[in-house]
Amino acid sequence: MKPYKYEIFTSVIEEQIRNGAVKENDRLPSVREIRKTYRLSTSSVQSGFEYLLIRGLIKSSPRSGYFVAAQTQNGEHRKTDRLPPVVRNEAFMKNMMLTSKRISEAGFFNAAAPGDLLIPQKLILRTMQEVIREKGASLLRYYPSSGLEPLRYQIAKQMNRYGCLLNPDELIITDGALQALTIALKSVTKPGDIVAVDSPCVFSVLEVITNLELKVVEIPVSCDSGFDLESFRTACEENNIRALVVTPNFHNPTGTLMSDSTKKDLLGIAENYRVSIIENDMYSDLYFGEKRPCSIKSFDTKGLVMMYSSFSKTLAPGIRLGWLYAGDLYSKAERVKFSLGRSVSPVYQELILKLLQGSSYERHLRTFRRKLNDQAVQLSGVLEKYFPYGSCFYKPEGGYSIWAQLPEKTDMELFYQYCEKHGIMFTPGETFSFSGSYSHYFRIVFSERITAESILLLESAGRKAKELLL
Ligand SMILES: Cc1ncc(COP(=O)(O)O)c(C=O)c1O
Repeated sequence: MKPYKYEIFTSVIEEQIRNGAVKENDRLPSVREIRKTYRLSTSSVQSGFEYLLIRGLIKSSPRSGYFVAAQTQNGEHRKTDRLPPVVRNEAFMKNMMLTSKRISEAGFFNAAAPGDLLIPQKLILRTMQEVIREKGASLLRYYPSSGLEPLRYQIAKQMNRYGCLLNPDELIITDGALQALTIALKSVTKPGDIVAVDSPCVFSVLEVITNLELKVVEIPVSCDSGFDLESFRTACEENNIRALVVTPNFHNPTGTLMSDSTKKDLLGIAENYRVSIIENDMYSDLYFGEKRPCSIKSFDTKGLVMMYSSFSKTLAPGIRLGWLYAGDLYSKAERVKFSLGRSVSPVYQELILKLLQGSSYERHLRTFRRKLNDQAVQLSGVLEKYFPYGSCFYKPEGGYSIWAQLPEKTDMELFYQYCEKHGIMFTPGETFSFSGSYSHYFRIVFSERITAESILLLESAGRKAKELLL
């Protein structure tokens, strides 16, 4: 890594503190003096002092300058000068770690978002530069709270092409999909209400539900038979369910695609029991077949379905831009949106608008889908070959996760220990449910470029799983 410019003087001060050349409360040279001596800019000098402050080596006194802070005998700053440790929720931290920790590049199968090598970096950065050049300082203003009108129009136009008629005036631009889901849920529920979710369900969605203080009924989704309609019907019969959060197309983590007839039947049940449907459409653009699958929304004649998506899964997770189709609940939803953030970043709004207006997003999707499909085929082959008899892997028809099941007798703790030690990260099944189910399942994500080394790591995980059965 390239050293920071300020290191030229911070390293000297650090050394002086270490060898006792300067002591507690000694005044340090001023910003001006350092600037002159080391020929640095004011901001570089200030960044350097900030770095020393964060490390606790120095302290600042308003209008007097910087001074050496109290040090321990071995040269470190005194522990008592530190702020008390922050208390964090253990289960939350663990799930965050399991869905984002990267031990090795090749064995990074746990984060469901395009990896650095599959993000269209050049396209995004070039378009961003164009936006900044063209829009200049106007990007520094608040944009409309519900989002830029031409962007809402472009998104609606795109969806209309797939047979899903959305009125752009009922669309809200959000900071990603999770914010869209939060707004949708807050628009139809109050704390204590019951919602249904497809299960297994990603931890981020479960986290939103927890934070809104909702109760949950989990509706099974299996790789063989898909979404369990009967279970949903029974849940509606037995509970006052306010909403169903569902991903019909390339469900994460199972990768399953709901058939059109199931979509219609599900809608029928929801209509019968007056349950709102909150449809997650994040993965629909990532189909491996001939065409984009239909949405539940496209069959909705009664205005029961809200729909949301974002560009985190198709472009890059750092592009904080999603949308919610709120339909009849627009008025409530726009107020919730406002309270969660006055405006989504203008740069991202203009970026996505530009990409959608041209053909570059479509072209990127075509290449991306092809790569993902190739990787799905390649990985499925390796999994089938190296994992023990009795394991199950569902080859998805879109998206980028494979839901894996190992035989009951497998010691999963030893399996994960081995994987972690060898730089292989999967997301364990337990993170996908409140009920602690799915102990012998795990998710394998292939949204980063798969290399020969990744394949070797998967093979070794498979061999280990076999060994653990003996
Ligand atoms: C189902 C689902 N919803 C929401 C998110 C988060 O999306 P965003 O980054 O757009 O908020 C994810 C991914 O983490 C996801 O898989």
